[in-house]
Amino acid sequence: MRDYGAAARRDACRLPPVTDSHARWPDLAYAPRDSPHPECEVPVGPGRPVKVSAHQLLRQLQELPAQPSVAMRVVLTANDERSALSELGRLIELDPALTAHVMRLANSAYYGLNTPVSSATRAVTIVGLATARAVATSVAMGLEGPGVPPGFWEHSAATASAAAVVAPRVGCNRADAFSLGLLHDLGAALLHRVDPQAYAEVTGLVAAGEQSLVIAEIEAFGTSHDQAAAGVLEAWNFPPPFVAAVRSHHDRGRNLVNPMTRVLASAEEISLRLPNAPIHEVVASRAMPSNLAEDGLGDGALERLLDQVAGEAAALVDSLLSLPA
Ligand SMILES: [Fe+2]
Ligand SMILES: [Fe+2]
Repeated sequence: MRDYGAAARRDACRLPPVTDSHARWPDLAYAPRDSPHPECEVPVGPGRPVKVSAHQLLRQLQELPAQPSVAMRVVLTANDERSALSELGRLIELDPALTAHVMRLANSAYYGLNTPVSSATRAVTIVGLATARAVATSVAMGLEGPGVPPGFWEHSAATASAAAVVAPRVGCNRADAFSLGLLHDLGAALLHRVDPQAYAEVTGLVAAGEQSLVIAEIEAFGTSHDQAAAGVLEAWNFPPPFVAAVRSHHDRGRNLVNPMTRVLASAEEISLRLPNAPIHEVVASRAMPSNLAEDGLGDGALERLLDQVAGEAAALVDSLLSLPA
């Protein structure tokens, strides 16, 4: 059995009780203003715009609140290796919106069920613990709805679908790989949330070939989306191999040892060959070596996979794009 260390062995039963099942971004209203980075108007909660920098936002996400939302509790419970699917299902059912998210995904064309699921507990058994955790993470971090960069969920869905296809080739669990694909660019959504216009300028510069993605993000926000996401996921007790894969997905070489890093590398390469791939990601990926041949995905095999991934991503993306708020 894997050992993710003391932090990951946190007993979910000892978490504080939930008092507000819809609480999101729980502590951002008192954003301190001591950051050297530009502050931006950020809509946080209903009608409460506050000014926070990327560093303030990330610091607040990394500090778990005394009374976490249901979605946060789901993430922490799922990251405890002793947790059971039934426990996760019962916890999700405390939050009607999160229940709707997970059920919508389980009932999407991607899973191809003949009989729709009608409970969160059943939905979790269909999508698996890792995917339920990815959905809860998206909800807890406020990524549902329109507040993400253009094409964010399309690219995430394509990378998740590709990761699930590639997983058996690199000795990686399919559900873990799928959830990694869904969340790998989580940091981009967080930086976009801090300042959508500044993030659009970053992606424009990168798409035009004028700057590398990581450098442009650091100059605009003081951090890059891979490091930002890894810091938050680590604080939320995600397994170290998962965090490592996110942290290095724009700074990787060949001969990757960590199966999670390897599956993400190949999945992203595949997803970026689809027609609707974000241009700035395509340009950014050119600076990194290809790992597809190592995974037995030469041109012929890749051509066959692209149609499969495109179809599965299309079956998946509607359930992600139309998540009820
Ligand atoms: Fe990506
Ligand atoms: Fe990325």
